[in-house]
Amino acid sequence: MSPGDHYRQIIELSEDCILELDATGRIASVNRHGLDLLQAFERSDVLHRAWQDFWPPALHPVVHQALRRGLEGQSSQYTGTLTTLRGAQRQWSVSIAPLSDAAGRVESLVVVGRDITEMRRVEQALRTLNASLSSQLQGAESQVMAASQHNQYLEATLTQAQVISERRRHLELAALQQRDIAEAARAMAEHTAMQAQKGEAVGQLVAGIAHDFNNMLQTAVAAISMVTDAPETLTPIQRKLLGRGNEALGHATAVAKRLLGFARQHPVRAEPMDLQEVALEMAELMQQSLAPDLQLVVERQSQPFPVIADRHSVGQAVMNLCINARDACGGTGRITLRCDQGQVSQDWATHLRAAGDYVTLSVADTGSGMDQAAMSRLFEPYFTTKPEGRGTGLGLAQVYALMRQAGGFIDVDSAVGVGTVMTLWFPRAHVSLGEAEVPPALPAASGSDLSA
Ligand SMILES: Nc1ncnc2c1ncn2[C@@H]1O[C@H](COP(=O)(O)OP(=O)(O)OP(=O)(O)O)[C@@H](O)[C@H]1O
Ligand SMILES: [Mg+2]
Repeated sequence: MSPGDHYRQIIELSEDCILELDATGRIASVNRHGLDLLQAFERSDVLHRAWQDFWPPALHPVVHQALRRGLEGQSSQYTGTLTTLRGAQRQWSVSIAPLSDAAGRVESLVVVGRDITEMRRVEQALRTLNASLSSQLQGAESQVMAASQHNQYLEATLTQAQVISERRRHLELAALQQRDIAEAARAMAEHTAMQAQKGEAVGQLVAGIAHDFNNMLQTAVAAISMVTDAPETLTPIQRKLLGRGNEALGHATAVAKRLLGFARQHPVRAEPMDLQEVALEMAELMQQSLAPDLQLVVERQSQPFPVIADRHSVGQAVMNLCINARDACGGTGRITLRCDQGQVSQDWATHLRAAGDYVTLSVADTGSGMDQAAMSRLFEPYFTTKPEGRGTGLGLAQVYALMRQAGGFIDVDSAVGVGTVMTLWFPRAHVSLGEAEVPPALPAASGSDLSA
């Protein structure tokens, strides 16, 4: 077999379409696979056909240029859609190269065409798959992102829900506390109203009794004065006895009037007064209600003790302290009233106890005294250790209110089984009460101050 035969066999075995074109671009020879790829039954079907005719008109310039370059001795490649003899559209990749004679002249052209339709389809499929995969990937990414955003949203919602539930728990707790407070306040208000009604009722009762008592006394005074107006009809002894009776009635009238004034509601009117004078008046009034073995003493000082306060309220405060002292003594012992000068130094001062000069009134008793628990609740409204009906627990609360109003405070010193000293501290008024000059202040008294 000649080398030419070898080559012909190789060409016949090639999977590609191998053609030889003459110088006019017509097919001069074709291999077996070429016929199959062009869907020709016989070689005569393709031989002498122009190569260009297999291509769509749009590709003719490209084919033409490739043929021309081939004839010029250059190789070219192009790809395009070829129409087979049975009208099928196939994607081909084509290489055209010149075939030269021994002198180097181009005699013909060799065309190697390869059907790449499947390859393109696979490529397209791969591209589509790739596109779909990447879009799926993007979708997945965006889903992951959305999921993570959703997750974040869920986390945020959860946190928010936790915050809301925590807030709601707080609100419920607060509401419960409010309800408890409201409940306690309501109970306290009811209790206060009841006690106030009691206190008011006692006050009204005292006022009523004092009023009627005063009327009866007036009648008795008028009756006696009618008799004493005609002294000639009386024996000296009768005149003397009636005089004594009149005196006693006068005294009783004064007591009734004081009681009446004491029980009646009073508008508060601050005025300059001598604290000792009020103490003396109240002591006199108190004397009437003391057991024989209970002594009440006023350690009277020579100078006045000027304060500016509501006279009635101060009287009421002194009376409250004296009654408490009397009750603490239980029928025997001693109650001592004493006025003094006092001073609060800067060291001792608090926001409820301003530094400065004071006048004091102390009520000391030799009674039961108080333990620490009673001392700490002393000024609480309605705090009482007295049996039902004996004490309202409002006495010291009133005293406290008065002292706050007067700009003063209360000092308490007590020992169980020994006695109690309650001292009212009034800011010293720098006014002249007439007869005496106010002397310089004395050193401050000692003791525990529960009002501060
Ligand atoms: N001098 C005192 N000695 C012992 N305990 C006292 C003295 N003063 C007050 N207390 C105690 O303080 C409580 C409260 O006194 P407060 O004057 O406020 O009310 P009360 O005397 O009980 O009742 P009210 O004054 O309304 O009749 C008294 O019940 C008593 O326990
Ligand atoms: Mg009292």
